[in-house]
Amino acid sequence: MSPLLASWDEAGYGVPPAEGSMLEDVLAGLSASPRRLPTKYLYDARGSALFESITRQPEYYLTRTELALLDAHLPAIADAVGPDVHVVEYGSGSGRKTERLLAALHAPLAYTPVEISQAALDACVARLRPRFPRLAMLPLRADFSRPLQLPRPPRPPARTLVFFPGSTLGNFTDDDAVALLAAMAATIGDHGCALVGIDLVKDAAVIEAAYNDAAGVTAAFTLNLLARLNRELGADFDLSGFAHRARYVAARERVETSLVSLREQRVHLAGQVFGFARDEAIHVEYSHKYRDERFAALARRAGLEVVDGWGGHAEGFGLRLLRRSAR
Ligand code: AVJ
Repeated sequence: MSPLLASWDEAGYGVPPAEGSMLEDVLAGLSASPRRLPTKYLYDARGSALFESITRQPEYYLTRTELALLDAHLPAIADAVGPDVHVVEYGSGSGRKTERLLAALHAPLAYTPVEISQAALDACVARLRPRFPRLAMLPLRADFSRPLQLPRPPRPPARTLVFFPGSTLGNFTDDDAVALLAAMAATIGDHGCALVGIDLVKDAAVIEAAYNDAAGVTAAFTLNLLARLNRELGADFDLSGFAHRARYVAARERVETSLVSLREQRVHLAGQVFGFARDEAIHVEYSHKYRDERFAALARRAGLEVVDGWGGHAEGFGLRLLRRSAR
């Protein structure tokens, strides 16, 4: 382990998630009606690799569009953000977007990827350190949906910039998104700002295709959740007995993804038996699509205001710059 990571650990930043919480979450979700499983458990090592492959599928326009927006507008974004910033990224991702951002900003001071997975943090730092040798790497192991205690850069930054790309906000229901944005407002403080990527409402067929790619990568990504429960918790889901289903529900402006039981069947987990009816669904993910007014309203409820933006209806995806509202 590198000296920087060791000192971060000893400094005690970030609290690792409690042991056993995945089993508790899964038992609670499978006992609920309708059944559900927490979205975050899609991202074990195999799930993260499958998601990375999703971002390269022709139907999945989100990543491609956001990268093009960054390429086109990073000079303007860098001017809006200014020098000497502490960049805090929610989720460490594959680094493609991070590299572009860090390269474009005017003399950024420090970079803090925030992740629950230590392995993902280590990989992110190992990848970026050689590219940005003068940037302080201060990874934080934490859940970004809660208020964060940020590591301190070597000298005081002019401001904190939270980078939250990919429309990951879309995984959260409106109330949870407001809670997350409010925590973000606390993290950036009075002088900070946040750059958030949001997928925008568009033609339903385009959206549905993005979550039902022809190569079946998204289906494999969703089904991997059951494979993970088998591997890590000793469940006995028959993967051929469930199917990926992703539908755009226009009335709610979101994709709803679930795993549907193809027949009547029983599944065992931790000494319990779960009976499934044919066509019974386990909800696994929302992917909300936004309109500008709705996104601005969510931000306002969290004490934030949209002060700048790049990309809109024509591009189908948007980057929005947020600051705390004047109080
Ligand atoms: C990473 C949450 C933005 O909802 O579009 C992609 C995850 N799920 N395909 C999304 C995902 C299925 C993705 N986010």
